[in-house]
Amino acid sequence: MKFFIDTANLDQIKEANELGILDGVTTNPSLMAKEGITGDKSIIAHYKKIAGIVDGDVSAEVLSVDYKKMVEEGEKLADIAENIVVKVPMTKDGVKAMTHFAELDIRTNCTLVFSAGQAILAAKAGTTYVSPFVGRVDDVTWDGIKLIKEIAQIYSIQGYYTEILAASIRSPLHIVQAAKAGADVITSPLSSILGLLNHPLTDIGLAKFLADQGKK
Ligand code: G3P
Repeated sequence: MKFFIDTANLDQIKEANELGILDGVTTNPSLMAKEGITGDKSIIAHYKKIAGIVDGDVSAEVLSVDYKKMVEEGEKLADIAENIVVKVPMTKDGVKAMTHFAELDIRTNCTLVFSAGQAILAAKAGTTYVSPFVGRVDDVTWDGIKLIKEIAQIYSIQGYYTEILAASIRSPLHIVQAAKAGADVITSPLSSILGLLNHPLTDIGLAKFLADQGKK
């Protein structure tokens, strides 16, 4: 399973990248705004910086909602760097745009996916990644991990090549559950990735090993 970091914060991207386990980055308009990045020029410049830090895929989201504008914007985003993947919302115009991008070999990430039906449409449109939002499904008391399992089962039966990117990950437990459910990728805040490190027995064991050798 690939690990993407879900942030537009350059320090956190660098920190995750230095761990050596980072396969890519996802952002969204809210995450960009959180870093104070708004307006076309600043957004493009910021994507350029992110794409220069990591070797893996960097999802850059279109802000247009109309097919023609989405295509124009997506093509511009794809031109920023080789590792840019155009993030497109699961709408009627989005499906048309993803089909267009697939024909041009421009890779896409279909975002705002909340049902198996939407995931089937995304795969049919030839998207590279489909992003079901685990945490936001949980927020409305449905089961985000169950959705990942359902999509994984359908994709395996149908032989779809689209990769399942479990998004809206909110905890280390979500990462483990997404791995068990068949996600190909998780995208997560740095805190949940680092949370995977924690185990009290590791701390106790290390302290004992060091103490036994007279080291602190
Ligand atoms: O980028 C999409 C997604 O990961 C958002 O997460 O926590 O805002 O639901 P969250």
